[in-house]
Amino acid sequence: MRRLRRTGVLRGLVRETELTAAHLIQPLFVTAGADVREDVGSMPGVRRLSIAALVEEAAAVRAAGIDTVLLFGIPAAKDEMGSGAFDEEGIVQMAIRALKEADPGLTVITDTCLCEYTSHGHCGWLRDDGTVDNDLSLELLAKTALSQAAAGADAVAPSDMMDGRIGAIRSQLDDEGHAETPIISYSAKYASAFYGPFRDAAGSTPRDGDRRGYQMDPANVLEAIRESRIDLDEGADMLIVKPALPFLDVVHRVKEATGAPLAAYHVSGEYSMIKAAARAGWLDERAAVLEALTSIRRAGADAIITYHARDAAEWL
Ligand code: PBG
Repeated sequence: MRRLRRTGVLRGLVRETELTAAHLIQPLFVTAGADVREDVGSMPGVRRLSIAALVEEAAAVRAAGIDTVLLFGIPAAKDEMGSGAFDEEGIVQMAIRALKEADPGLTVITDTCLCEYTSHGHCGWLRDDGTVDNDLSLELLAKTALSQAAAGADAVAPSDMMDGRIGAIRSQLDDEGHAETPIISYSAKYASAFYGPFRDAAGSTPRDGDRRGYQMDPANVLEAIRESRIDLDEGADMLIVKPALPFLDVVHRVKEATGAPLAAYHVSGEYSMIKAAARAGWLDERAAVLEALTSIRRAGADAIITYHARDAAEWL
């Protein structure tokens, strides 16, 4: 083995982990308006795009060899209920139709959540006392998933962490003629400091309080396995662990315990750390990104959701 390492002979043949563009999912932010290409200050290289610009960006992503995007919407207006999330003419619904019309072969996954659409920035229905009403939230989330599937989404990815959401979404989709639309569940979503830049990008920082009431404690791993099993029982087709690098043990253990298709979400803060260090000249961006993504695959993720996707695909 050491001889192989020293000489580099057979390196490709004995490599244990493969990383290709086919493993990558590119997140994209679509925003209301025309001709908008807005840089996200905290995420160099990431932009909020209006629909026509989004379609162009998706074409570039495809040209780099990536077939799958994860879509987030930034609506023109927000309200208490987050009604923009399930509006037939909502920003994401319109974007899905435009993307699929321009390129039917593009796989479009939608983030199914309310936090980008609620004026208070929480992922569900907020009671007067400031706590989230789980069951009312389920109704709104199921409506959101249904409207996304009806607009042509290939899969929906609920990221809210309400109890029972997978079952609620599954039965709504089944009842309304979308029995074949898969659900990709953010089954292990931690209450993480690494979402900071995303909340800036999507304008979804909670006005009051935080998300610890419904996201998981970073100290727990058995809970992630339990949550994943529950989601699979409720009908999830694929699971997500999020964030990725600080939680590689969770990626590994969820994969081992469930054997289910699994994506890891290399989140905004993980992206921005590498970008910032690379910009300062402290890290070799390309080497750091490919090492990080390979490690996420090695831990057991089938797919990786990452803002580096397009760059990485070009490097690969
Ligand atoms: C919630 C959602 C979040 C992210 C994806 N979906 C934010 C949150 O829970 O605050 C974060 C992704 C990232 O940091 O890149 N809809």
